[in-house]
Amino acid sequence: MSSKATASWIATLLAALSCAAAPSGPITLRTATFELNLQPGADGRLYQREVGAAASSKDARRNEEFYPQAGDGYVFEPALQVTHADGNTSTTLLFTGATHTNEAPDIGLTRVNLRDPAYPFEVSLCFRTYHDRDVIEQWQEIHHQESRPVILERMASTSLLLPSTNTYLRHFFGDWTNEMQPVTEQLAPGMKVLDSKLGVRAGQFRNPSFILSLDGPPNETDGRVLAGSLKWSGSFQCAFDHDGQRVRALAGVNPFASAYFLKPNETFTTPVMIWVWSANGLGEMSRKFHDWARQFGIRDGNKIRSVLLNNWEATGFNFDFNRIASLFDPAKQIGAELFLLDDGWFGNKFPRTNDSAGLGDWQPNRHRLPNGLASLASEAGKRNLQFGIWLEPEMVNPKSELFENHPDWVIRQPKRDLELQRHQLVLDLTRPKVQDFEWSVIHDTLGTPGIAYAKWDCNRYLTQPGSSWLPSNRQSHLWIDYVRALYALMDKTARAFPHTELMLCSSGGGRADYGALKYFHEFWPSDNTDPVRRVIMQWDYSYFFPSMAIAGHVTHWGNRPMHFACSVAMSVRFGMDLDLTKLSAEDKAICAGAITAYKHIRDVTQLGDLYRLEDPHLEPRGALNFVARDRARAVLFVFQLKDAPAQPVLPRGLDPATRYIVRELNPAPGGPALPQEGKTFTGTELMRDGVVPSCAGALEACVVEFTANSN
Ligand code: GLA
Repeated sequence: MSSKATASWIATLLAALSCAAAPSGPITLRTATFELNLQPGADGRLYQREVGAAASSKDARRNEEFYPQAGDGYVFEPALQVTHADGNTSTTLLFTGATHTNEAPDIGLTRVNLRDPAYPFEVSLCFRTYHDRDVIEQWQEIHHQESRPVILERMASTSLLLPSTNTYLRHFFGDWTNEMQPVTEQLAPGMKVLDSKLGVRAGQFRNPSFILSLDGPPNETDGRVLAGSLKWSGSFQCAFDHDGQRVRALAGVNPFASAYFLKPNETFTTPVMIWVWSANGLGEMSRKFHDWARQFGIRDGNKIRSVLLNNWEATGFNFDFNRIASLFDPAKQIGAELFLLDDGWFGNKFPRTNDSAGLGDWQPNRHRLPNGLASLASEAGKRNLQFGIWLEPEMVNPKSELFENHPDWVIRQPKRDLELQRHQLVLDLTRPKVQDFEWSVIHDTLGTPGIAYAKWDCNRYLTQPGSSWLPSNRQSHLWIDYVRALYALMDKTARAFPHTELMLCSSGGGRADYGALKYFHEFWPSDNTDPVRRVIMQWDYSYFFPSMAIAGHVTHWGNRPMHFACSVAMSVRFGMDLDLTKLSAEDKAICAGAITAYKHIRDVTQLGDLYRLEDPHLEPRGALNFVARDRARAVLFVFQLKDAPAQPVLPRGLDPATRYIVRELNPAPGGPALPQEGKTFTGTELMRDGVVPSCAGALEACVVEFTANSN
C-alpha cells in the first residue's frame, strides 16, 4: 500500500473511532481511484454522497440514506425491510461506530455498525476494499436478540446512490443458446428491475452482472463506469430506483417469496456484491475485474488451463468403452491434453441412453463401461491424456432408481402435477439426506482413480418451489437455503479435490456468476458454439470474466470454416468437441495448428490484460488483443463477420518503446500473407498505424503475435 493510501486508511480509522464515540464522520472507503463517502447525519442515520459527486455541505435528505429501511419515513425502494418479533414492520438504523482492519497490504475490511434504538437489532455494513484494483466487495451482516425470530422481507447486499442525469445501464438478458445479450439504456425516473425467480440455474434469462456508466453511454476508453456483479447463484434482484434526483442501485437476494425467519442470536449474511470502478471506460474496468478475478474470484487463477477434447457434440449419448477409447489416440495426436466424457455414462436399471432416464443413478452403465470409469481414465492416462467426467448431481429423472426409492426427495408442490423440464426434477438440497447423497455421488465419482476434471451441469430451474423437508411455515427459506447448501457442497468438493479442475455448466451459461465460480475454474458460457455467435457472446462475457474462465469449444455448430471456429475458440479457454476421425485432412491440420499456436500463446491470453478493440455488435469484425503483464508479448485476434475492405486494426496496451516482431499464427491455408509478417515495429508504431489483418472476407480470422525483439 502506498504511504498515501496508508495515511488515508489511518484517517478513515481515526474518523471511524471518533464516530464510535459520537456519531460524526465522514467514513471514506477509498481505493486507488474510487471513493465512497458515508456520513452519519445529525439524526444518527447514515447518509451517502452520490458516487462521483463533488463534496457538498448541504444537509443530507432522506432519499440520500445509504442503506434505507422500510417503515419509518423512507418511501422509496428500501434496502432493508423487516418484521420485528412483536409485529412492528418498521426499522430505524442509527450509526453506532465503525472499525477497519487491514487484511493484506492493499486489502482492507471496514465494518460500519448500525442499530435500531427500539430493538436489539443490528446491521453491520461490510466492505472489503481491494485498493490497487479499484474493487469493493459489499455485504451486510444482520443480527438480533429479539424474543422470537424476525422476518427479513428484503435485505439488499448493496444500495448505492448514483447521479440521475446521464446515467446509463448495460445489462444482459438471454435464454438457452442465446445467453448474455447486452442492452444499454439511459436510466429514467421509475424503477428498472432485473431479476430472476428461477432459484436454481438462476441466470438463464438474465445475468446478475451489469454496468453503470455515469457519463453517457459507456465506451472502452473514456468515462466513469462501475461494474456490478452479485455473487449469488440463486434468485436475485437488481433494481435501479430513479426518483428524479438520483439513482439508487440495489442488488441482492430476490425478495420474491423469500421471507427469511432469522432466529435470535443468528447472523444472516447477505451475498456479496462486487463493484469495480474505472474512470477510463470499460476496458480498464474489465482489466481490473479480470485481475481481481484471477486472484480472488476463481480457483487457481494463476494456473494455465489445458486443451480439452469433449465427446458431447461428437457422440451425444451414443457410445461405449471402445467408442470413447477410440477417440483418445486422435485426441493425443492432435495435441489435446484432457479428455472430457460427457453425459450418458451411468444408469443400469434405467440406462442413460437419452435425456429421459437415469439421472440420479450414478453407477457406470455395465454394458457401456463394463470395467467402470477407472478403466477409461486409465486408457486415457496411458496416452498421457488427463480424463474428466460430466456430472449433474442436483437432478433426478423420474425414470430412475433414485426417484423410485425417494420420491419425496424432489422439489415439488403438493397437490400439483409434477412439472418436468428436460424430463427431470431438482433434488431438495435443504434435506440433509439429499446433501449426503449428492456428496457421496461427487465423492465417489471424482474419487475414481484418474479423474482430473469434472463438468458440473444443471439442466433445469425451479417452477414448483415446494420442499417436503422444510416446515410448512418456512417454505420461503427454500430459495436461500438451497443455494447455501449448494455452496457448502461445492466448497466441500473444492476442498476434497484440490487438484481436480471444475467446469460450471447450466445448459450453458445459467450459472455464470462469481458466487459459484469461487469453487470452479471456468464456466460453459453457452451450448451455442456457433463461432459467429461466440465472437459476440465472448465479447459480452469478457466485461466481467477473464478469458481463462470462459470455455470455448470448436464444434460444427453453424457449419463455419474450421479456421474461423478455431480462431474464435482460441481467444478463450480452448477446447474441441469434434469427432476428429471424421475431419478432412485440411481441417485436421487447421485444428492441430490451432492447438500448437494456442499452447504457445495461452500464457498471454489466459494471464494477460485484455483490450477490446472493435466491437462486433457495431463493426463488420470483432477485434481484441491480450498483452502479457511484462508487455514483452501480445496477441491480436481479428474475427471478420461480414465482408469489408481490409483496414488496419490498432492494438492497445503495448509498450510504446519496445520493438515487436509481427507474426501471424496458424494462418488460414491458401490465404494471403500478413503484409507486416516477420517485420519489426515499435509499440508506438503498431498502436498508431495498426496491422492490416490477412482477413477481409466474412468468416475469416487472423491471430497475430507481437514478440519483443531482443536483438
Ligand atoms: C447440457 C450441457 C451440454 C451437455 C448436455 C449433456 O445441455 O450444457 O454441454 O453437457 O447437457 O446432457
